[in-house]
Amino acid sequence: MMTADNIAGIRELLAAAKRLAVLTGAGISAESGVPTFRGVDGLWRKFRAEDLATPGAFRENPTLVWEWYDWRRTLVAQKKPNPGHFSLARLERQIPEFTLITQNVDGLHDLAGSRRPLKLHGDIWSVRCTRCDYRGTMRQTPLAEIPPHCSCGSLLRPDIVWFGEMLPERIIEEAWQAAQTADIFMVVGTSALVQPAASLPMQAKQNGAVVIEVNLEETPLSPYADHVLLGPSGTLLPQMIP
Ligand code: OAD
Ligand code: ZN
Repeated sequence: MMTADNIAGIRELLAAAKRLAVLTGAGISAESGVPTFRGVDGLWRKFRAEDLATPGAFRENPTLVWEWYDWRRTLVAQKKPNPGHFSLARLERQIPEFTLITQNVDGLHDLAGSRRPLKLHGDIWSVRCTRCDYRGTMRQTPLAEIPPHCSCGSLLRPDIVWFGEMLPERIIEEAWQAAQTADIFMVVGTSALVQPAASLPMQAKQNGAVVIEVNLEETPLSPYADHVLLGPSGTLLPQMIP
């Protein structure tokens, strides 16, 4: 368990970092009111994310998948960054080489002032056509048409990386690079179950980084972390990052 002394130690570690990478997951947005995926409120109707965020689910029932995204988009549109997001935006301005890697699609890091979060799983406001090469931003909430269509007549889909799909190559490359060169790797609010994101902290550790985990509870990563801080990121991050 973390004491005030431990927090002070972490604060010093972070202040001395030259290359720092941070991986965030849904937990960092929980205190903003965005439901996590695997928590008690993670279900929408009776579905789990793994049943909806797949190409197969979209092929079978694009309306259902879009209804889920419409619900998430409408919810996220009303949410604001919390002190956890703001702390990471502040940290970015204190460290010479800083990389923020996120699995979140909610855009709250951008709203908090993070300059260029590497979005491993895409962005909830981005769409692309299932047939032509159209890509764009669609902000409307709730959507007027479900499922929405491209001007070419085909279905639009969320520009999000679904289970079974490849991560954008340039983004995962850059994330690997940051993990391999980091002297500190911080992991915040992720269940560390979804690959390849969950491998990034292990990669960092194998290359000599100090791994710091912030989560409400222990995860499969905790045994490998050098420091595990248990508690809400919206409270802990501001204490760690003055
Ligand atoms: P999960 O829902 O799997 O995990 C959320 C984590 O945040 C859990 O470990 C919680 O203990 C922790 N947590 C909750 N509230 C917290 C708080 N206030 N402070 C600190 N930690 C807190 O979310 P992810 O790990 O992000 O992918 O899930 C990974 C991916 O699986 C998501 O990007 C999404 C999902 O399916 C896609 O949709 C493609
Ligand atoms: Zn099209």
